[in-house]
Amino acid sequence: MRKKIIAGNWKMNVLPSETATLVKEVAEATKACGNVEVVCCVPAIDVAAAIEAAKGTQVGIGAENAHWEAKGAFTGEISCPMLVDAGVKYVIIGHSERRQYFGETDETVNKRARAVIAAGMTAIVCVGETLEEREAGKLVEVIERQMNVGLKGVTAADCDKLVIAYEPVWAIGTGKTATPDQAQEVHALIRATLAKLVGAETADKVRIQYGGSMKPGNAAELLAKPDIDGGLIGGAALKAGDFAGIVAAGN
Ligand code: 13P
Repeated sequence: MRKKIIAGNWKMNVLPSETATLVKEVAEATKACGNVEVVCCVPAIDVAAAIEAAKGTQVGIGAENAHWEAKGAFTGEISCPMLVDAGVKYVIIGHSERRQYFGETDETVNKRARAVIAAGMTAIVCVGETLEEREAGKLVEVIERQMNVGLKGVTAADCDKLVIAYEPVWAIGTGKTATPDQAQEVHALIRATLAKLVGAETADKVRIQYGGSMKPGNAAELLAKPDIDGGLIGGAALKAGDFAGIVAAGN
């Protein structure tokens, strides 16, 4: 049995001064959901306040990106040792917004993911096709490439520090959700691709989240699918009640 993991991705939305309140509201609202791992991934500048507010609660705090080098002349970047030192346990890597707007490639995803895992944090590695790619019949090719290049060198032993998030780009922030069957089909493909990299037994233990307009109203049917082990939540993670509704659906 894979433990469900529901993670919020706050993106660039919450001020440092608003962070403690939202984390505490999430902690309170998800208190009774003991069978679900609850995570808030927050902007780097919110990390300190989020860690402080989450102390003694069931909420884990994550970051939204990390650089692969431990230190050095990389103005504006945040390293894994910095995140570990601050108390961060999870890092989102390769979100489609980073790929789309900030030049992230499968190769840089690979470097970041390996650095996060080597630092002892859990990498939430995002994959997903654009509408154009799906309509051109390239879904399988794109997912396999993102997995094979993005996870190159990740071993079976690393996989307890790996979560994969399937986020169809056309479903992010659009209100358009993949149907449970559409999502399940890709989640099964992701698990089969992972099995070729690290073996079926290990692949069977790795959690695969769905992301893209997940809400309290559609979470239960998505989370009921055999290979959907959680959610990566954007908009609905900014309201504790909505986020908790999704966590409850996974419980
Ligand atoms: P929405 O839930 O706002 O569609 O965002 C999904 C997402 O990108 C999570 O990483």
